[in-house]
Amino acid sequence: MKLSLIAARSENDLIGNGLDIPWRANGEQLLFKALTFNSWLIVGRKTFESMGKLPNRKFAVISANGYQSNDPDVSVFNSIDSALEALSELTDHAFVAGGGQIYCELIDKAEVLHLTRIHKEVEGDISFPEIPSKFSRVFSQEFQSNINYSYEIWLPETAQVPVADKKSAGMKSV
Ligand SMILES: NC(=O)c1ccc[n+]([C@@H]2O[C@H](COP(=O)([O-])OP(=O)(O)OC[C@H]3O[C@@H](n4cnc5c(N)ncnc54)[C@H](OP(=O)(O)O)[C@@H]3O)[C@@H](O)[C@H]2O)c1
Repeated sequence: MKLSLIAARSENDLIGNGLDIPWRANGEQLLFKALTFNSWLIVGRKTFESMGKLPNRKFAVISANGYQSNDPDVSVFNSIDSALEALSELTDHAFVAGGGQIYCELIDKAEVLHLTRIHKEVEGDISFPEIPSKFSRVFSQEFQSNINYSYEIWLPETAQVPVADKKSAGMKSV
């Protein structure tokens, strides 16, 4: 199962303040909504309780303390390993969608990072983990809003196919 990580972080690498996200950048969440449409999201119990359920998504909530849900779109797992094992029987792709603890525990397993950089320094207490050195930024697009932000794609070196090699690898340009 492929894991994609999706997160937004401030200039000082914060993702949260308590249970809240410490900015309101108009339009920024459209990227999250578009990318995760019709997908499984792996989230920590705190993030799920904070964000609530979004329609058209399924949630794998990680909780060691017996959190329960009767919602058919929400499955609760008491460990990350049990969630990955169960999801791999159900889907070939899931998003790692936070928060801080879950990003830390799964960033090494992600095959792609979809990262929004909010161009503001904020106050908070939950940080995004250091990005492992195997990843490099391969795409960046700036957006102007009440708080400007950029959308970035990060890939491991091994996943990057140089353009010149695509023909020999049988790939078509898109
Ligand atoms: N900026 C962004 O893109 C973004 C995205 C998502 C969230 N956030 C922010 O992130 C913050 C929440 O992050 P957080 O680090 O405090 O909490 P979190 O990662 O959302 O959830 C932590 C909880 O997940 C469970 N958990 C984590 N690892 C586990 C493991 N290995 N085994 C079993 N259970 C495990 C535990 O639940 P139990 O206590 O129930 O055992 C733990 O208390 C909020 O401020 C939220 O707004 C930001």
